[in-house]
Amino acid sequence: MPWVQLHIQSDREHAELLEELLLEAGAEAVSMEDSEDTPLYEPERGTTPLWDSTRVTGLFQGEADLESVRSQVSEAWHAATQTHLESIETELLEDREWERAWMDDFRPERFGDRLWICPSWQEPPDPEAVNLVLDPGLAFGSGTHPTTRLCLEWLDQADVRGLDLIDYGCGSGILGLAALKLGARHMVGVDNDPQALDASRDNAQRNGISDEALDLYLPEEQPSQDCSLMLANILAQPLLSLAPTLAAQVRPGGRIVLSGILSTQANSISDRYARWFSMESPTEQEGWVCITGTRYTD
Ligand SMILES: C[S@@+](CC[C@H](N)C(=O)[O-])C[C@H]1O[C@@H](n2cnc3c(N)ncnc32)[C@H](O)[C@@H]1O
Repeated sequence: MPWVQLHIQSDREHAELLEELLLEAGAEAVSMEDSEDTPLYEPERGTTPLWDSTRVTGLFQGEADLESVRSQVSEAWHAATQTHLESIETELLEDREWERAWMDDFRPERFGDRLWICPSWQEPPDPEAVNLVLDPGLAFGSGTHPTTRLCLEWLDQADVRGLDLIDYGCGSGILGLAALKLGARHMVGVDNDPQALDASRDNAQRNGISDEALDLYLPEEQPSQDCSLMLANILAQPLLSLAPTLAAQVRPGGRIVLSGILSTQANSISDRYARWFSMESPTEQEGWVCITGTRYTD
């Protein structure tokens, strides 16, 4: 599905007002960008960046009535400030993987011998298989991306029965929930995107997974804990900086599964984690790799 962004230039006093007006007009998300040189990001919950010159951007579904959005925002702005909004720029976005673009490609798919990921709006083709029924919502993780697929195929051939695991960067919850379906005992999902935690919770319920089998945290709220299996499909850069954090959460003898890594980045990831783990050779699909390791026991 295409998405449209409306950009409005603002000064620091009015950025929050614009955020409010865009949300009232139906924006799915609002982000702010320093017009000078700081990259675009979504403000953390409860915080607002205060740059002198800020570009406020509202994200709308492609079918939104932009003319009515524009006039609603302009009129509310005029009512609040007695001035006219100078310009609202429109930008049509290409389909993006981390939104709902995956839906077109998302069909029931088998990973390895036993595991199927099935969209929640279709019947599982093999009711006897290990089926994870999934709606990723706005979170990443439907299994169509090679980084997810590599992890799912690893899980299918592993014996995860009885394990407690952490799915770091859980997105839709796909990896950790698949592990639970394959017999793991408990999952901790961690993600810095609150929408991912919501999607993981919904997907757990969809699959009849009990509340006791699942805990979900933002990284800063995660209690100190460890596990026997760490799954982390994030990009290489966060994996490099998170290495001590992730390593500290894996018990001696426990396994780590790292993905989201381009094949050209494999060596630097293996080298970094080799301090704590005996690292194995990467598996590769379409230029992406998954690297596993076993935590040293001493
Ligand atoms: C590539 S997606 C993987 C989603 C899912 N686990 C899968 O395998 O398809 C990466 C996820 O990691 C989250 N993420 C990125 N950086 C993070 C960080 N530093 N701490 C926690 N989560 C992070 C993102 O919000 C996103 O949901």
